[in-house]
Amino acid sequence: MELGSRNPAFEEDEGKNPAIQVTKFDSEEKCDSVKLDPDEEYSQIKPYAGMPKEVLLLYSSQARYKVPREILFWLTVACTLTLVALTITVIALSPPCLSWWQMSPVYQIYPRSFKDTNGDGVGDLKGILEQLDHFQYLNIKAIWISPFYRSPMKDFGYDVEDFRDIDPLFGTMQDFEELLAEMHKRDLKLIMDFIPNHTSDKHRWFNLSRSGDPHYSDYYIWVDCNASNPKPNNWVSIFGNSSWTYDEVRRQCYYHQFLKEQPDLNFRNPNVRKELSDLIHFWLGKGVDGLRMDAVKHIFEAQHLRDEPQVDPNKPPEEINTEFDLHHDYTTTQVGLHDLLREWRAVMDIYSREPGRYRFMVIESYDYQEVEKTMMYYSTPLVKEGDFPFNFYLLYLPQNTSGLWVKALVDLWMSNMPKGQWANWVVGNHDRARIASSAGSAYAPTINMMLLTLPGTVTTYYGEEIGMQNINITQDEVQDPAGRYNVSLSRDPQRSPMQWSNELNAGFNLQSNLTWLPLHPDYKTVNVETQKTDESSILAQYRYLNNLRQFELPLHRGWFCYIYTDASVFSYLRELDGLNKAFLVVLNFAKEAAVTDLSSIKELPSQLNVLMSTLQVNNGKNMPKSQVKTEAGEGLLIQFSSNIKFNHNHQDQCYVSEKACYLGALGILYKC
Ligand code: GLC
Repeated sequence: MELGSRNPAFEEDEGKNPAIQVTKFDSEEKCDSVKLDPDEEYSQIKPYAGMPKEVLLLYSSQARYKVPREILFWLTVACTLTLVALTITVIALSPPCLSWWQMSPVYQIYPRSFKDTNGDGVGDLKGILEQLDHFQYLNIKAIWISPFYRSPMKDFGYDVEDFRDIDPLFGTMQDFEELLAEMHKRDLKLIMDFIPNHTSDKHRWFNLSRSGDPHYSDYYIWVDCNASNPKPNNWVSIFGNSSWTYDEVRRQCYYHQFLKEQPDLNFRNPNVRKELSDLIHFWLGKGVDGLRMDAVKHIFEAQHLRDEPQVDPNKPPEEINTEFDLHHDYTTTQVGLHDLLREWRAVMDIYSREPGRYRFMVIESYDYQEVEKTMMYYSTPLVKEGDFPFNFYLLYLPQNTSGLWVKALVDLWMSNMPKGQWANWVVGNHDRARIASSAGSAYAPTINMMLLTLPGTVTTYYGEEIGMQNINITQDEVQDPAGRYNVSLSRDPQRSPMQWSNELNAGFNLQSNLTWLPLHPDYKTVNVETQKTDESSILAQYRYLNNLRQFELPLHRGWFCYIYTDASVFSYLRELDGLNKAFLVVLNFAKEAAVTDLSSIKELPSQLNVLMSTLQVNNGKNMPKSQVKTEAGEGLLIQFSSNIKFNHNHQDQCYVSEKACYLGALGILYKC
């Protein structure tokens, strides 16, 4: 049997060249059956395509082919191994990339107040869509929108009637989907409010529960009580008075940590847990990028229903009616809470597997003096939970604007945060006064400078970027249920319409003269459009600092070190090992100018140059480090160059979330 096809070109040579005696071979024959005269030169036959195996072997065994071939072979092996080793080294040495929620501020939109497109005086989803350019202008990538679920609006959306629907006031599901698609197209992430603690009393579940439907009867917390004095114990609602309400239909009391129109769900019922985790699937399945977990510390309460201890044991029990009258030993942060959050985190992780699709979880819990309770919401190396709990401690800043006080608040977080976790900073939201009012507008730019140069993520409540102030509200104007009995508790002042321009209704509603809350009268000058044209505006400063933070490694990945603090000044630096460039921040929180002597800090050059001041006239100014001058309320950002790193000699004054060093030669970061 003849193997293969004959090569006519070779046939010509067959038999003519005495040096080659090709033996036709059958399948058993080995290649060494080719008889070759080893001393003969085969100069007439050149290698050619289709050359039979025997001749090929003849050539390939010659040293001039064999040696280079072997060299090439081993070179390839060596290169491959080197590449594999390099890849493994680079992977092993690379610090993890920062995720989207670490790279950008989280901007909070209160949808009623952002932008109204249909002229009813209330903002809507189409309005948010219309204003997306604002975020691109500011280089903000993460947007948290307060609730827009279907709701009777007793607590302006935090009382949800249907978790799977959009309130018509804000638009339709199609509007939502369009908004999300457009945001994703622009590389913007959408964070939604998730409100697990309670529903609206108009929710279908509550209606079925109060009418005794067996499946729903334990969806809420019901206890027997006396109709004429419906107080099974002394527990009080966050909005004041008893947290129990008698229901005429079921003839029992139900529990509500907030309004009586916001009955608490019973998370000891596995069906309730399932309903809520199904909701997470529902919204993440639609593509939502993150959830803000609302009021979670209230999710469980003790089943024994014992009275909570009074803060003032001598106060008559009938006068106990506010949150601050009791120690909430039985109604907040109960056992089981963290397990539940971890269950939800696991659901979120299912949707986090694709690159760039990490789903972010932020926790809302006001723990006041008990910061250690807040810290428990962070993940641990073994168990995943929140990416961070909101840091509400800077909300106390206005109590005492001084360098020492601000440092104490910053350090409260930094020194309690578990190692390796990511910080965050909140100075205002829809529940708390605007910082420009509470701390004073003179300090607002400096506070923004601090937020954007501290390590971690800043949350920006809409309008903070332009220094919006609280509005004044009279008792007659109160909309917020929390202010119904006491105007000073109303949250309306910080919820006034966003100030876009100096046009009709500050550009919030250009269709009619309606706004659900009055505008702040300063909108003629304090608005986005006007500030865009002014280089020295708080908006221009916010934009500059946010860009700088995102592009400068020391500011988003570097060490944070306390440098100097006194009654006036809070000062720190940001540096990265391996990188000469570093930043010094000097913030004056006093009511008068200060001259700070930093000459003992040997890591600083003797002359300092101001990269940016909150007072434009001081941009570019030079000053000796022995005399760093700041005006009252002024913030200075100083860029400098230094080979000696402050953190090397002052570990106890420095923090870093994930240690990384810069390798200048390759322009990369590595774990060090
Ligand atoms: C959260 C919200 C607040 C709301 C409460 C009840 O604390 O931030 O606005 O009133 O939950 O849902």
